[in-house]
Amino acid sequence: MTQSLTICRPDDWHLHLRDGAMLEGVLPESARHFARAIIMPNLVPPVVTGRDAAAYRDRILAALPEGMAFEPLMTLYLTEDTDPEDVAAAHASGLVKAVKLYPAGATTNSASGVRDFDRVRGVLERMAEIGLPLCVHGEVTDPAIDIFDREAVFIDRVLDPIRRKTPGLRVVMEHITTKEGVAYAGAAGDDLGATITTHHLIINRNHILAGGIRPHYYCLPVAKREEHRLALRAAATSGAPRFFLGTDSAPHIDALKEHACGCAGCFTATNTMSILAHVFEEEGALDRLEAFTSLNGPAFYRLPPNEERITLTKGETVDYPKKIQTGAGPVTVFEPGFPLLWRVAA
Ligand code: DOR
Ligand code: ZN
Repeated sequence: MTQSLTICRPDDWHLHLRDGAMLEGVLPESARHFARAIIMPNLVPPVVTGRDAAAYRDRILAALPEGMAFEPLMTLYLTEDTDPEDVAAAHASGLVKAVKLYPAGATTNSASGVRDFDRVRGVLERMAEIGLPLCVHGEVTDPAIDIFDREAVFIDRVLDPIRRKTPGLRVVMEHITTKEGVAYAGAAGDDLGATITTHHLIINRNHILAGGIRPHYYCLPVAKREEHRLALRAAATSGAPRFFLGTDSAPHIDALKEHACGCAGCFTATNTMSILAHVFEEEGALDRLEAFTSLNGPAFYRLPPNEERITLTKGETVDYPKKIQTGAGPVTVFEPGFPLLWRVAA
């Protein structure tokens, strides 16, 4: 008997599409299954102003193959020089759906991020007034803090103080990786959301480091101990409105992943829906997949869910390409380590 599941078309609430030849190569991988995505602004140079975001959106739409529908939901990269009025205008025009906070030095292309959080107070206050969400890369950059503790310390030292000082600020904790992140988001009100990636539901730190270094499993925040992965799985499959999918699919060419100083990022755009169906089935929660991929995110972002539907069916092993060939070079697709039996019907 074929098992099948029909759900509202999913959205990806955290996606890296890059630019140029890489954008052209990876965009169809997301547009095939996802209707919309929150597009990360960490290009070189970053997407800082409303004008930058409008130009980037045009480049994304120009790269979309004929016949594919996809709506990029644009974000601005918060810097210490960001102009609150530019942010408000970009939001009022409908162009920008969130502002992204990278602590300077926390991850890929974060050098223009925030060092002194007091210097972005004006922007955050304006965002609280207009209800524009702040997407947060939640890791401290203090070299004295162990990399596996950086998320938990960020919540105490940075995130919670910012939220207390800025009542009404709507925040998305991006790509949470710890039981502390799950607990903090789970205890909050509806002004807080948390995205969870596909890969953090599958790998723990052993997958990266035991038996040899696996560069394609290296991302930031880095995968943690097994107890944290289990907390993320429980949260994602709980159906709780706080938690929704943000794949953080982050393509880098193989030459830069398999490198003496390899880039952070897992590329999951291609097989995310198959992997998630597998995870939700394993957890006995297939009936909550739709909440995670298609309902909770739009509700947080105050957008309607997609009207279109997709059907997932379970059958023979799905053969995904091991790599996507882009004009910038090959990009390795995330390997979950088990056969994928769920496919998105054409
Ligand atoms: O693994 C990651 N890759 N984490 C990030 O925060 C950034 C991303 C990227 O842009 O490559
Ligand atoms: Zn990201």
